[in-house]
Amino acid sequence: QTIYLKDYKPFGYVVESVALVFDLHPTATRVTSTIRFAPNPEATDRTFFLDGEELTLISCAIDGQPVTPELSETGLRLDAPDAPFTFEAEVEISPETNTALEGLYMSNGMYCTQCEAEGFRKITYYPDRPDVMAVFDVTIRGPLPVKLSNGNPLEAPEGQARWHDPWPKPAYLFALVSGDLVAHADRFTTRSGREVELNLWVRPGDEGKCAFGMEALKRSMRWDEDVYGREYDLDIFNIVAVDDFNMGAMENKGLNIFNSAAVLASPETSTDANFERIEAIIAHEYFHNWTGNRITCRDWFQLCLKEGLTVFRDSQFTSDMRSAPVKRIGDVIDLRARQFPEDQGPLSHPVRPESFQEINNFYTATVYEKGAEVIGMLKRLVGDAAYAEALDLYFDRHDGQACTIEDWLKVFEDVTGRDLSQFKRWYSQSGTPRLKVDETFENGTYRLTFTQETPPTPDQDEKLPQVLPIAVGLIGPNGHEVLPTTLLEMTEATQSFEFPNMATRPVPSILRGFSAPVVLERETSREERIFLLDHDSDPFNRWEANRALAQSSLLTMITDPNEGPDRSWLTALLGVIRDPALDPAYRALLLNLPSQSELAQALHERGVTPDPDLIWSAVEEHRNARAELWQAQLPALAAETRVDAPFSPDAEQAGKRALGAAVLAMQSRFDGGTAARAVYASADNMTLQLSALTCLITAGVAEDALAAFEDQWRHDRLVMDKWFGVQIAYAPPQHAPERAAELTEHPGFDWKNPNRFRAVFGALVANHAAFHRGDGASYDLLADWLIRLDAKNPQTAARMCSAFQTWRRYDSQRQEKIRAAMERIAATDGLSRDVTEMVTRLLG
Ligand code: ARG
Ligand code: ZN
Repeated sequence: QTIYLKDYKPFGYVVESVALVFDLHPTATRVTSTIRFAPNPEATDRTFFLDGEELTLISCAIDGQPVTPELSETGLRLDAPDAPFTFEAEVEISPETNTALEGLYMSNGMYCTQCEAEGFRKITYYPDRPDVMAVFDVTIRGPLPVKLSNGNPLEAPEGQARWHDPWPKPAYLFALVSGDLVAHADRFTTRSGREVELNLWVRPGDEGKCAFGMEALKRSMRWDEDVYGREYDLDIFNIVAVDDFNMGAMENKGLNIFNSAAVLASPETSTDANFERIEAIIAHEYFHNWTGNRITCRDWFQLCLKEGLTVFRDSQFTSDMRSAPVKRIGDVIDLRARQFPEDQGPLSHPVRPESFQEINNFYTATVYEKGAEVIGMLKRLVGDAAYAEALDLYFDRHDGQACTIEDWLKVFEDVTGRDLSQFKRWYSQSGTPRLKVDETFENGTYRLTFTQETPPTPDQDEKLPQVLPIAVGLIGPNGHEVLPTTLLEMTEATQSFEFPNMATRPVPSILRGFSAPVVLERETSREERIFLLDHDSDPFNRWEANRALAQSSLLTMITDPNEGPDRSWLTALLGVIRDPALDPAYRALLLNLPSQSELAQALHERGVTPDPDLIWSAVEEHRNARAELWQAQLPALAAETRVDAPFSPDAEQAGKRALGAAVLAMQSRFDGGTAARAVYASADNMTLQLSALTCLITAGVAEDALAAFEDQWRHDRLVMDKWFGVQIAYAPPQHAPERAAELTEHPGFDWKNPNRFRAVFGALVANHAAFHRGDGASYDLLADWLIRLDAKNPQTAARMCSAFQTWRRYDSQRQEKIRAAMERIAATDGLSRDVTEMVTRLLG
């Protein structure tokens, strides 16, 4: 059944208050609800239907009188009074057997919940939609010592806990946790003097992994006050770490629940990348308190209203805490790796989708990351001051409401007087715009002519021109900038911009900072790119010039086996890499190559059917040649990256380690693993240990290290996820699927744990040549496991189906094998709605 945005209707009743009582039991939890309803003056339809799934109804009453509702698979219907009334129900649920990890479930003996998007209906009967907001009162009874819910705690008898959340909220923000947990506690005083108790709750044994998350929380709270003027609004803020969780984390009001991988950290067990991600996710969930909770979404089509904005805010935070250029480049790498393929394949959908079958399938890179890019463009277009003013107005005008993208754009229109109707296409049009550039130079006038075109997507044939903010700088032949970064606002399909009074023809630096999420198609000479790599003052475009050089060198090697790597570029790059004035983290990014999947896409766009084996060999050859060419300089570079101070996960040390890891990877290409073995033996932190281990795997000499690693870390789930993952991610294609199959037999392969499942299969999918091995071994293995997982956990299974989204790029033999795998999944009896929707869209 498909749900459409255009069919939105408000619910017939408002909820004035909700009281819930939980009597916790692993297989027979009783939930008693007392809900005050009143007719909604905004609605005409008075159908009283409450969502409810997998509930056993024990009793039900209206204003104290028992009633017999009409029950179905999806909920309960009653004839309700046309006046305020109290609805009471008692239901029974079974958290222990809830393997979907949605609703109330158990993870390692602890009770926890996940309600977004539509999980509350698995807890009790309720209008489970975000535009129904209410004040919740929760009582928890049960044997486990810690009992948490949203809001502030109230006095309660021994063995019980009571919570009152004064802020009206939709049911998707409800949360409950009960377990044998310990708190890492701290305090925070808000700008206006509210004393907030902070707790990070973990299982005994994990206390040593809390400090970093807590500090990140305090930094986030301060930052939101300083930059957005947003203060926390309860007396307590709880975070709980849970081992079994379908996603990263969840912003439940006053009670954020985190995948333990997204919050627990220590130097010995976490890499620098883990620390950075944890800091970002803590910030993201905390920032939702205003962008998501105080102002929520009217319906799930508006998901980007909270997610795009909150991702945008968390990237601003990371840019402020760390290096802004490094963060920007990382975000663009991620956008190209995850959002572009989505937008250019069968799963393409607008930032604000117009229909869905299962909303959980729309927590996508498009909604989140492209949604954040759209806000970045808006901010560039209106300027920082107007952006700040618009946000103040947004919080002022809409606090306590469930809003739409129209509401969001209206505050910008009201503040700036701009008409944003064309800009709004960014929310309604799917697909990645392609931007072509022509240039002329005549009589001292330099002219840039842009043409934009968005190819049709499976969901939309017609595309209209979008508003593109194009940040441009011009550089003179001597390397000096003759035009500093200037924002061009493109609104037409074709549009020219002139720059008069130029003494000589400048070199353009186009789309600085990646000012719009488009594919820039500009044929440029290698000389010009090397010039930009040497001279561009915009760190993003300097990196981008290098990336283009890397891509074109690799594409040449792939399409012509007689071609070697571009040595003149590598020589120029080495000059930049050796510049001690440049941030090591930035230099490490310059050593990154475009992913093999991106190279496949680039070939496909050039009309060449990508051959994953040829791509793999070309990248290997390139890496070997680069290491050999630079061999003499590597020891000096390695020395520069040594960190003598005690470990700290800050950006400066992390940058050095990132560059060090890249250098070590090059050394391992010709030293048989000697340097990596030494690093492995002396490593006192996970970043070094893991980077050495991956070098040894790549060199094919990791057997001892892998055994030692397993021995050392067998007791630590999160570290063992890494052990499972790297063996597949770095395995040569000829062994990876077999190794993955072997690992599924390992006693530690707890496949019902989403982190462990993804450790193996996420790594297999990311290993391009291994996943697309010509015999289809990986396709079959993944299909087998997705079928198996779907029966237990549809959300995580559905999410992993996107592995197949690029299938149309490949040769007909591979396409047939992928099609067969997907059809086999589709034909499974009892397949979930989640996976059914995914494979149907993928098959097209
Ligand atoms: N709102 C959460 C976040 O962005 C993610 C919830 C995802 N839920 C889902 N059903 N996929 O942090
Ligand atoms: Zn979010």
